[in-house]
Amino acid sequence: MDIFDKLPENYQHKFARTNPHMLKNMFGATDLAPFWIADMEFPIAEPISQEIKRIADRGIYAYEFDAHNVFASIVDWNKKRNDLVLDQKNFVQVTGVLTGIAVLIRELTQAGDGILIQTPVFHQFAQLIKSAGRKIVSNPLKIVDGAYKMDVDDMEEKLQSGAVKMILLCNPHNPVGRVWTKDELKKISDLATKYGVPLVSDEIHSDIIFEGHKFQSIVSIDPENHIALLGSPAKTFGMQSISNGYLYIPNETLRKKIKAVVGSMHLNHGNAVTTFATIAAFKHGAEWLDGLIAYLQSTINWIDQFLAAELPTVKMSRWKERIKYGSILGKLASPKRNWTVF
Ligand SMILES: Cc1ncc(COP(=O)(O)O)c(C=O)c1O
Repeated sequence: MDIFDKLPENYQHKFARTNPHMLKNMFGATDLAPFWIADMEFPIAEPISQEIKRIADRGIYAYEFDAHNVFASIVDWNKKRNDLVLDQKNFVQVTGVLTGIAVLIRELTQAGDGILIQTPVFHQFAQLIKSAGRKIVSNPLKIVDGAYKMDVDDMEEKLQSGAVKMILLCNPHNPVGRVWTKDELKKISDLATKYGVPLVSDEIHSDIIFEGHKFQSIVSIDPENHIALLGSPAKTFGMQSISNGYLYIPNETLRKKIKAVVGSMHLNHGNAVTTFATIAAFKHGAEWLDGLIAYLQSTINWIDQFLAAELPTVKMSRWKERIKYGSILGKLASPKRNWTVF
């Protein structure tokens, strides 16, 4: 049996996605399929759970920091998996990706400023913008030949108006699943530079990439001007409730400014479980992740065949005849689990 066919023990009703109290509060019902949140129902990689057990077994939880090795493990990981050369000194640790975005919004824009997002996009982006007293400027994605595309002309129009003071990108995009190409990223990057607005790229989903596609970080396009939220193990390794967020800011002036703010609020404090679990994930989690991606790819292929055979009027969003990462697809079970998809 594939390790991804096994549900972890006590899976039901313990976590946000299936917690009846939360579901009732949020959706007014409890009999819902758990596709509303981007987390997994797979047992995590053995080296991570072993490391967490090691920390727990020590029986002592004194202050302990090891950001150096966390950043080193993220650098190595990105070199090996994405051909992406990063520099350890450019990281700023925060308590989560959303915390990082919230800090950037507050530090790089003013109350009332517009922030451009490519809708439909992860709902928390809108919440972060509104709760900081900024305005949402929507740059809707277009569906062209059955696939989602950026509307670069619309983006430029909105930048020209002067109302946009930050672009918040999601790459790969949650929920439409596009891994933005180098060409698309270059266009956005050029526009951000032309109109002098910071470009912030949430790259939390960058490790779940299917065959035929390659993730490009925004900082590989223009390191001096852009900021990436890169290196969170949350989605990659199913560590949502125990992970930090990592800002990557190559521009020194900007990095110093953000680091000072984050430090002044003590948001850069890791904890030992997170720290060592992150290092274990990036150092020893590759084999597990390859297995996960292969498993999800076979699930996607099965859905594809199922739709063609049984529900031909239902279309799956595709890009260049290849299926991109989809957060919902990622959570559907394999045919082996015998689920019915409605
Ligand atoms: C695009 C995106 N960014 C950020 C998050 C949440 O990140 P964190 O829990 O580190 O704040 C999610 C979770 O679904 C997400 O999909």
